[in-house]
Amino acid sequence: MALRNYKDIKPNIDKSCYIDESAVIVGEVECAEDASIWPLVAARGDVNFIKIGARTNIQDGTVLHVTRVSAANPEGYPLVIGEDVTVGHKCMLHGCTLGDRILVGMGAIIMDGAIVENDVFIGAGSLVPPNKTLVSGYLYVGNPVKQVRLLKESESAFLTQSAINYVKLKNEYLAELN
Ligand SMILES: CC(C)(COP(=O)(O)OP(=O)(O)OC[C@H]1O[C@@H](n2cnc3c(N)ncnc32)[C@H](O)[C@@H]1OP(=O)(O)O)[C@@H](O)C(=O)NCCC(=O)NCCS
Repeated sequence: MALRNYKDIKPNIDKSCYIDESAVIVGEVECAEDASIWPLVAARGDVNFIKIGARTNIQDGTVLHVTRVSAANPEGYPLVIGEDVTVGHKCMLHGCTLGDRILVGMGAIIMDGAIVENDVFIGAGSLVPPNKTLVSGYLYVGNPVKQVRLLKESESAFLTQSAINYVKLKNEYLAELN
């Protein structure tokens, strides 16, 4: 079963979302309208919460988790992902905050307290260290990530287009279920 309670907290999924049956979504996880969660994604909202914005897609094999509240860190690290974000295959997003219109390249890792501003491209296989901020409008690549250059117009356009493509794709999958 894709959706599971943690204690008495159940995931809050808008009815327009597509959640693949092989995904596992546990506890305090919110998915806004037209978001899509693809095969083998694990999203575990137990020791803190996870929010996934409208039209955002989380692709196959990605892991989403959070860090608990502690005396040293009273809010812990929830995971907040904005709108129109594309998270590629097999990424690891842990306790970080992402704005809107972002591409997280395949296999990227984003760690606790990192902030990714709106309109950012993160190259495949990159690592974003704890508490690092990636500034709006740039391409970042590498382990640890470095700012490479301003986004090209085509790349900026792709950020929105990718979200549109995935809304269309998830609607095709939903239609098959009905
Ligand atoms: C980074 C990226 C956007 C390409 O940017 P680019 O500026 O067009 O890069 P180029 O292809 O011209 O390559 C420039 C250099 O960066 C290197 N490079 C490309 N992608 C890289 C990456 N992800 N990490 C590290 N280096 C990378 C190239 O090898 C090249 O190195 P060289 O100059 O030493 O030969 C692209 O490779 C990428 O990672 N896209 C993410 C795609 C993805 O994961 N989509 C999600 C699935 S839908």
